[in-house]
Amino acid sequence: MRVLVAGSTGYLGRHIVRVLKDRGHYVRALARNPARLEPVRDSVDEVFTADATDPKTLAGCCDDTDAVISSIGLVGKAGKQTCWDVDYRANRNLLEDAVRAGVSKFVYTSVVRAPALEKLQLVRAKRAFEQELRESGLAHTILLPNGYFSDFDAYLDMARKGRVYLFGDGNFRINPIDGADVAAAAVDALDADASEVELGGPEVLPHEEIAHEAFGALGTQPRITHIPTWIIASSVALMRWLTPLRVHGVVEFPLTVLTHDVLSPTTGRQRLRDHYKQTAL
Ligand SMILES: NC(=O)c1ccc[n+]([C@@H]2O[C@H](COP(=O)([O-])OP(=O)(O)OC[C@H]3O[C@@H](n4cnc5c(N)ncnc54)[C@H](OP(=O)(O)O)[C@@H]3O)[C@@H](O)[C@H]2O)c1
Repeated sequence: MRVLVAGSTGYLGRHIVRVLKDRGHYVRALARNPARLEPVRDSVDEVFTADATDPKTLAGCCDDTDAVISSIGLVGKAGKQTCWDVDYRANRNLLEDAVRAGVSKFVYTSVVRAPALEKLQLVRAKRAFEQELRESGLAHTILLPNGYFSDFDAYLDMARKGRVYLFGDGNFRINPIDGADVAAAAVDALDADASEVELGGPEVLPHEEIAHEAFGALGTQPRITHIPTWIIASSVALMRWLTPLRVHGVVEFPLTVLTHDVLSPTTGRQRLRDHYKQTAL
């Protein structure tokens, strides 16, 4: 298949590009900064340079492609744009070009469904795009993955500095998933019928255990500080009052994930412990 990968320069997008090429597909990578494709350059057949928030630059990006996989999103970066500009509007712009070009499949990377998350702006923006996709008439699959291993490298970074900070008593649980497992599901979706696929790592882990795994990979003694959740809840509430959406929209998401159980079906194969061991080398 000829596949346009949007978000190709990101953590997940680079995994998707590699899996597509390994399975023999033709890869057109959409990037606003093609230099960021360097780590996967060998897996890219063609680059389309565009900022997906600007429909003019996107025009024609889906011509002569069979499918689109989008992992475009605003992840942990407070800049000029909000989640509504990127997670919703940029993906909608892309969808419009996909419909115009008559692609046969659109795979969209959304986010895990969890009761605590649904009211957050980032998640609302993603759900709004999911709805557009359902109404577009295009065959589609919406991926609903749990947190990626890349986000949990923050524990390894803190452990390297000697201390991990956890929210609450450390017993909130999550099953993080490797980008390679999500990418495999994204590429599987190209010729599957499911309109939604929930994705989570193979192990449901309390955050306390994740912190211990990080220290274990480094071979250092665990030193953990617990921060009461009321401090986080009050900080999030204050940020909603004091900062614009482009700031609090980015911050409220990880802080909410870290202070609730966020659980998905255990579909992934890679274990966080092994990821930490490789990353800690
Ligand atoms: N990280 C997680 O734990 C997690 C969990 C569940 C779901 N997700 C979702 O999965 C998706 C991918 O996440 P990720 O961790 O791979 O994020 P990431 O590394 O930040 O990648 C995001 C990608 O989107 C691109 N992008 C952003 N704005 C753009 C624009 N205006 N035009 C063109 N490209 C644009 C980025 O390009 P640049 O390289 O130029 O910035 C990058 O390639 C996101 O939708 C995210 O919400 C993430």
